Amino acid sequence: STSYTAHFRVWRGDIDGGGLTDFEVEVHEGEVVLDIVHRLQATQAPDLAVRWNCKAGKCGSCSAEINGRPRLLCMTRMSVFERTETVTITPLRAFPIVRDLVTDVSYNYAKAREVPAFVPPQDLGPGEYRMQQEDVERPQEFRKCIECFLCQDTCHVVRDHEENKQAFAGPRFLMRVAELDMHPLDAAEETGLDRKTTAQDEHGLGYCNITKCCTDVCPEHIKITDNALIPLKERAADRKYDPIVWLGNKIRRR
Ligand code: SF4
Ligand code: F3S
Ligand code: FES
Repeated sequence: STSYTAHFRVWRGDIDGGGLTDFEVEVHEGEVVLDIVHRLQATQAPDLAVRWNCKAGKCGSCSAEINGRPRLLCMTRMSVFERTETVTITPLRAFPIVRDLVTDVSYNYAKAREVPAFVPPQDLGPGEYRMQQEDVERPQEFRKCIECFLCQDTCHVVRDHEENKQAFAGPRFLMRVAELDMHPLDAAEETGLDRKTTAQDEHGLGYCNITKCCTDVCPEHIKITDNALIPLKERAADRKYDPIVWLGNKIRRR
């Protein structure tokens, strides 16, 4: 049949504590996990807190953990689970609980603010920017980010290590540093801002040991590790350990 009753287990509580609550809930063909959460709100748990907006995998709001894996509730089809399987939904583990499935993701906004913006070239006016097509295309992948923070949640550097949050920007914001550092027109260096050095010293690039868990959970399938973090590490290492490369880069940029 097309409908069945599923076993759900949902974390409920707040900053003071909580636990898993069991539900039996109806599932219809074609539904996603967010549909089931909405059905729970409509029928059994009207005060169940969940954050969502678009139900189309585009707003990045409905991030949670399903059977321990960081995922978007609206993009996880019920058909990926066995009908007899218990589906457990818990809030993002790396961030403080607000209530039920809602967490306080302000760590991410704080980290976003720590990345200095693009510095426009001083000697070019509007309309005078010229870039190679490959330099235009490379960051387009990074710009697909919907800021769901699933990568930030899963990265082991902070997942169970609150103490690393101060020093580590996380994959999403190291990717942003990489994007700016690759930008041929970014004039940060002329203002004394070396993005390769700050990637290490201020955004904690060295904490990343390229486990790629971030890439594995990204709903936009951005190759965060291979296309942003590893290239940034290579560029930062060149800068740090090879004065000739460093000098060469300096001269080439002029
Ligand atoms: Fe989400 Fe991917 Fe952006 Fe990380 S890089 S915040 S996983 S869309
Ligand atoms: Fe973390 Fe991704 Fe690096 S999961 S360790 S940022 S490759
Ligand atoms: Fe917008 Fe899921 S509700 S991404």
